[in-house]
Amino acid sequence: MNLKKYISEKKIKARVKKLTQKISEDYKSKDLVILGVLNGAVIFCSDLCRQISVNHHLDFIKVSSYKGLKSSGTLEFHLLPKVDLKNKHVLIVEDIIDTGLTIKFLKKYVKSQKAATVRVCSLLVKKEKLAHVKNDFDYIGFEIDDHFVVGYGLDYNGSYRHLPYIGILK
Ligand code: IMP
Ligand code: MG
Repeated sequence: MNLKKYISEKKIKARVKKLTQKISEDYKSKDLVILGVLNGAVIFCSDLCRQISVNHHLDFIKVSSYKGLKSSGTLEFHLLPKVDLKNKHVLIVEDIIDTGLTIKFLKKYVKSQKAATVRVCSLLVKKEKLAHVKNDFDYIGFEIDDHFVVGYGLDYNGSYRHLPYIGILK
């Protein structure tokens, strides 16, 4: 397998800083809950939350595709957040949006918990694949072409999450 550097550590750092400035501004005096999506978003989420100047709760959620039913958008929960989301301003933090199914499912879940607002912050978005999906993601790190990427939390069969940069795996 061939790994090619795609987005440098320096570029990621600069982008995370920009995103956190905007998020801190938008959530000023709001009851914010950051909901990181495990495992992929753990590194992005920990860099992000340490630079957000607004006090917030940090919790995690874990889901995976329900084999055989993927096209229906059905996923199964492996971990639910402990924090009560009712009347909270929830920011879901994802590593990457590919088909958009995971994020659609997660937004629906957060809304069902009667959150005051639900927004999405994703480090990466594969834009061209999302032409058919209503495209309402609030904070995006980088829009990328349809590559399989690893690093900075993203994996291939559990490997490469620890890389400080994002690479294309071929
Ligand atoms: P979606 O439901 O199709 O948007 O897929 C989202 C999930 O698929 C992400 O949270 C990742 O875990 C995984 N995924 C999609 N594309 C990639 C990739 O290029 N590299 C690593 N994981 C990916
Ligand atoms: Mg993920």
